[in-house]
Order: sequence, then C-alpha cells, then structure tokens
Amino acid sequence: MKNNNIINEIELLKKEKNAIILAHYYVVPEVQEVADFVGDSLALAHFAQNVEADIIVFAGVNFMAETAKILNHDKKVLVPDLESHCSLADSYPAEDFEKFLKKHPDHKVISYINCSADIKALSTVICTSSNAVDVVESFPKEQKLIFAPDKNLGSYINSKTGREMVLWDGACHVHDRLNSDRLLELVQEHPDAKVIAHPECKDVILNFAEFIGSTKAMLEYTQKDESQKYIVATETGIIYQMQKASPNKEFIVLPSDENCNCNDCPYMKLNSLEKIVDCLKNETNELNLDYELMEKAKLPLLRMFDISFKTK
Ligand code: 13P
Ligand code: SF4
Repeated sequence: MKNNNIINEIELLKKEKNAIILAHYYVVPEVQEVADFVGDSLALAHFAQNVEADIIVFAGVNFMAETAKILNHDKKVLVPDLESHCSLADSYPAEDFEKFLKKHPDHKVISYINCSADIKALSTVICTSSNAVDVVESFPKEQKLIFAPDKNLGSYINSKTGREMVLWDGACHVHDRLNSDRLLELVQEHPDAKVIAHPECKDVILNFAEFIGSTKAMLEYTQKDESQKYIVATETGIIYQMQKASPNKEFIVLPSDENCNCNDCPYMKLNSLEKIVDCLKNETNELNLDYELMEKAKLPLLRMFDISFKTK
C-alpha cells in the first residue's frame, strides 16, 4: 500500500516534469519496476543518447548518469543519491592515470565505461562488458593497447583475443570477492546447474562458467537456454529480471568470501523509491559537468557506438 502511493506519486511527477527514469539491473526490484527502461551499461548509454524528455532520473551509479549527461548535454540528469559511486570507477583517479599513460606513450587507450568523465576524456575509445571484444579487435594486432580499469575483464579479453594489453590494476569490490570455494561446492551440489558469470569476476570463477557476458547478455542467455537451473556469479539485482522472465527456472546466487551481503553492490542499492520522489519533486541532485570535458569525453563514447553497432 505504502509503495502504491509512492509509485502513483512518481508516475504523476514524471508526467508533470516530462521526466523519464532509467535503471540498471542491479537496483532493487521496486526501482526497476518504476523505470521506463532497464538495461546494461551499453543499452542504458545508447538509450540515454536518444531520450527526448526534459529530465532523466538515473537509478544506477554516477558514472552511468554522467555518461547520459555527456551523450545528451541538454537534458537535466538527476540521481536519487549522489553517493552512488562505483568502486571500480573510483580505483582509477585521473591524475594517476595520466602518469600511467606517460609511461606507455605509444599505446591507444581502451577504457571500460565504469570510469569518470575525466578518464573518458583521456581515452581513445570506451567499451562495456558487452562489446569489449569488438572494441579491442577493431585495432590492428600490432597496435599496443592499454585496458583500464578492470584487470579481470582486461585479462579475460586478453585471453579471448590473444592480445597482451597493458592492464590497469583495478577491480570491482563486489565481483572480485565472489567465493570460488563456494562455487566449487555449489557445482558439486547442483550438477544440473549451469554457471554463468559477469566478466568482472576473477578467472578462478570465470573458468567454471559456461557463459560469460554483460548483465543483459546473461539475462538473455537464461531466457534462450534450455537448462532449468543456474549458478549466477554477479551482483544479486539481476536475479529479479531472470526470475521474472523465466519463472519456472531456478537461480542460485554465488555468495562472497565474507559472511555478509557483499554481492549486493552497496552503491546500486542506495537507489530507492523515496529518493526518486525527492529528486524529481525538488529537481535536486543534478549532475553537471564542464562543457569542454563533456565534449572530450563524448568522442570515445561515440567511437564505441560506431564499433558496437556496426559489427552487430
Ligand atoms: P553491465 O554493463 O554488464 O550491466 O555491467 C555494469 C556493472 O557495473 C557491472 O558491475
Ligand atoms: Fe561498480 Fe562493482 Fe557496483 Fe558494478 S557492481 S557498479 S562495477 S561497484
């Protein structure tokens, strides 16, 4: 009942303000339900580029909202909670990265979209987990490459493409902590289950996986695949859409090393219905970026779109 009132209020505010809500699969189910579009990083960025509404409320983490702003400058981009950082994006300060780049002057720079606008502006091209292979393969074999900030994704792409990209030493604190011993036990307990994993996981987890892909790719895989049971190695939020799309299938979440809910991304989980009402009603928590920075950061994003949507 309480939620019904808030949901009605959000719907009214969306109409009154000509606003649209975008959400990532890792936010809580009730926020995914009020969103006009739910997707992985690539789908969200692409959708944001073409939004016509005046206001975008971005229920995800800040680098995703920044990306929407970079791609669609004129829109007012609001975030439900300004503390929605991303540990991976934070592991990659621009000053340190500039020093790193100076040590590798003849390298092109591929940055995973989980990074700040400053880092995007320093990059040749951006990629996401759904197009990283295509982006890397768009460069000639002899081209020296830096891949940052996710060393797990970078090393997975190195193994898939036979490249030896220089990797920045960053990782997502959620995926990096998933428990490989527990995975082994779960595989033995459920021999009929398939392991599916996000490429931000360590290779000890990825080695078990029958399917590795972005959140959206994993969701689509579970819809098309014939198995009835999956062990899912990523953040917990995606289970909601998997279960919704395949109500008769079973999804087992791989836990973290620590005895905690560490496979919940704490930043994604800061998004709530109440905070959406607050930011929409008062038009607070607006993300603003310097215009020149946005222009610089936009180019590598557009290069990614060119590669990604040309090869598909
Ligand atoms: P996706 O692009 O696969 O949705 O991943 C985003 C992310 O932050 C994973 O931790
Ligand atoms: Fe960042 Fe990890 Fe959260 Fe994804 S799950 S938003 S990479 S902290």
